[in-house]
Amino acid sequence: MTVANLTSPAFDLKAITRPNIYSLEPYRCARDDYKTGVLLDANENAYGPSLKIEEMNLDDNAVLSAKLLAGLNRYPDPHQEDVKQLLCNLRNEPSKDDPSVVPLTPENLYVGVGSDECIDTVIRCFCAPGREKMLTCPPTYGMYGVSANVNDVEVVKVDLDLATPGFPVRTDAVCEALTNDPSIHVVYLCSPGNPTASLVDPAAVKKILELPSWNGIVVVDEAYIDFSAPGSSLAPWVTKYDNLIVMQTVSKAFGMAGIRLGVSYTSAPIARILNAVKAPYNISSVTSELALLALSPESIANMRVKLAAIIEQRDRLLTELPKIPGVGKFIGGNDSNFLLVQILDKPGGEPSSAVANKVYETLAQNKGVVIRFRGKEPGCVGALRITVGTKEENDVLLEKMAETLAATYA
Ligand SMILES: Cc1ncc(COP(=O)(O)O)c(C=O)c1O
Repeated sequence: MTVANLTSPAFDLKAITRPNIYSLEPYRCARDDYKTGVLLDANENAYGPSLKIEEMNLDDNAVLSAKLLAGLNRYPDPHQEDVKQLLCNLRNEPSKDDPSVVPLTPENLYVGVGSDECIDTVIRCFCAPGREKMLTCPPTYGMYGVSANVNDVEVVKVDLDLATPGFPVRTDAVCEALTNDPSIHVVYLCSPGNPTASLVDPAAVKKILELPSWNGIVVVDEAYIDFSAPGSSLAPWVTKYDNLIVMQTVSKAFGMAGIRLGVSYTSAPIARILNAVKAPYNISSVTSELALLALSPESIANMRVKLAAIIEQRDRLLTELPKIPGVGKFIGGNDSNFLLVQILDKPGGEPSSAVANKVYETLAQNKGVVIRFRGKEPGCVGALRITVGTKEENDVLLEKMAETLAATYA
């Protein structure tokens, strides 16, 4: 049966859509193509949520569910003070005995629907569409560019140092770009970087924050910070730098990607601006109830146990992957829950993006293992990004990687 189309002849979707939106390339992930199998593509926490589900007895679950369901007729708390306080406690912890450190308070926080909303909110607040710009340091997280496009904001790119292991920030080049172009209002640094898995040197961040020839905001995206050495977070710096935003998320170390909760730690005046533009009830009551549980002292202790297991498995992959003929060098750092490794055109040969892409596709299509091809990123020839899985998942990964490479070169 054909349905009559009653649309006005004047309707022209392309003509009424903002041109930058009509031509938008949306964020793409391996999960768009492959949804099942051993999923080592999205840097999730394979060990599960920080909440101790095994220890929550059925009665607890029933009480929690009943409480959540009974309250669903009401809008959630627009301010999320309780969640914010726990997020402050988490980052105040390492410095609580140092009297020179000013503790973070909920006034320093903005919470969003994942860090992805936090990223977008900053651009909407500080970069006027079509006029002002932001700066990123590729290879980096793809959502910075997607959010910039959505907001019709130009991205100035200053590549990381692609020739030096660990991809350090080219601080002088960044400072020069900022000095020469006052229309750049925001700099996005990713620490540890995705896909580099390397922490940004705090001295580089300090230099940009203190640059006297530039007026703008430095965002440090610390989505993976808990996989780095303890004390690496720059969140406590927001009480001494008025121009810093440190973003974090419960999606990674806390294993709570499904609830969508990201946080920006910043100065109180910036937090006020970010909070002013958000939708009033952006964080659902289901998200905040689960976040309160995930951020309790017991859950944080549980998260740290799982963290230790991930770090042990990361060390194992660092040792075992290079033993597979055709696996080349790790080109990133070891500060995250994933590794960036090169695949060679032949054992002992040169890095090859064509071979790496073929290995990625074969693993996903025929072997049930989904990782991420990163060979098109600057400085990442032949690179695959592999999330650290559970011991059993890593067993499968190592076996299938060896099988696939052997067949590739046969
Ligand atoms: C660097 C980086 N920032 C932010 C995010 C998004 O985090 P969220 O799940 O909180 O939106 C990711 C997700 O992979 C990421 O890699």
